[in-house]
Amino acid sequence: MKILAIETSCDETAISYIEAKNNNIKVLGNALLSQVKIHEKYGGVFPMIAKREHCKTLIPLLEKVLKEAKEIKINPPKLFEEKSFRRVKKILEKEPELLARIIPFLKKYSKPKIDYIAVTYGPGLEPALWVGINFAKVLSLVWNIPLIPVNHMEGHIFSAFLEKKGKDNLNFKISNLKFPILALLISGGHTELVLVSAKGGPASPWKYEIIGETRDDAVGEAFDKVGRMLNLKYPGGPEISRLAENARASKFTGTGIKLPRPMINSETLDFSYAGLKTAVLYLIKKLPKLSSNLKTEIALEFENSATDTLIAKTKKALVEIKAKALVIGGGVSANIHIRREFKKMTAKEFPSVKLHIPKQSLTTDNALMIALAGYLKIIKNKNKVYKNIRAEGNLRLA
Ligand code: KG4
Ligand code: ZN
Repeated sequence: MKILAIETSCDETAISYIEAKNNNIKVLGNALLSQVKIHEKYGGVFPMIAKREHCKTLIPLLEKVLKEAKEIKINPPKLFEEKSFRRVKKILEKEPELLARIIPFLKKYSKPKIDYIAVTYGPGLEPALWVGINFAKVLSLVWNIPLIPVNHMEGHIFSAFLEKKGKDNLNFKISNLKFPILALLISGGHTELVLVSAKGGPASPWKYEIIGETRDDAVGEAFDKVGRMLNLKYPGGPEISRLAENARASKFTGTGIKLPRPMINSETLDFSYAGLKTAVLYLIKKLPKLSSNLKTEIALEFENSATDTLIAKTKKALVEIKAKALVIGGGVSANIHIRREFKKMTAKEFPSVKLHIPKQSLTTDNALMIALAGYLKIIKNKNKVYKNIRAEGNLRLA
């Protein structure tokens, strides 16, 4: 089965084209364009700017992906009728920049071999999500290919199940899964512990239950905000990680700064990161000068604090649900220290729990995870037709 997947929920435009057969995934084409350089100067993602950039980049990315897959063929003339042209115009009413680019594309090339088109419909920034959805709707209409709506967070969970096969980065095997699974999802918008169960094994329907989540900021958001307080480049997450890792490598000893570990001993599985962020703010206000050594020390202590609470709540949840596997997904799972600490913790304290962490390149937003989520959704609901797909900014897993 060949699946084209589209991801535009935030500031990454991504398209993936895969061939899936049983447990094997072959990447036929893959492209991603990050808008980070554009949003950098504002210190955050602006939805309307993200929308504009998605409108600009989707067509060049699709061309690139199809070329990579050798699946691009010049169209015999007249395939694109007047009637469908009118419907395309209607679908892209609010995305005129994309309309102007998609018409010549559709006139030029013939239909590629695609069985399904998977597209992220939430959670995320609605104007950005709509671009991907409407783009998918046009391709679906003109090429007559069914759509599969995908939950972005489900994509982050599944990114951890892609195991590399061979040396290239093109062949993957889907992991053998043991349920119940505990998923820790950590990104710019989410910090949640999810119980994933499938009574009849992986091929049966999966059930999600959010058993813990942040009561205020997401952990990635806290990384980014603290990064801004330390005058680091946007997004702060990777920058804080870089400073903290350098400090560990050089056995840096600081001045003894200590930050709180909010809610670490509370009864619930919930998290809180706003207090930690505010503690950094007050600390910086009290300092006469933010020297580069102090920046490093704060980055290190902040990262240690964020990691400690993630680990503590995850351990509690692993025991409570008697998990057989632990998945960590979302942009913050790129963090070297967090990855290392989770590996150490599970090996030492939960040796029978299988740990699934996505490979580095699949931690942040990408379309390969959306393709896989689409595949696993469609093989469980073969004949289901998804109509009236809409962007759902606040979509939840359960
Ligand atoms: O999953 P993602 O790409 O987008 C969302 O769905 O939010 O996650 C982005 C988040 C940002 O907050 C970014 O700072 C954080 O992931 N991030 C990191 C690292 N790399 C990305 N946080 C800590 N350490 C990193 N190495
Ligand atoms: Zn994400």
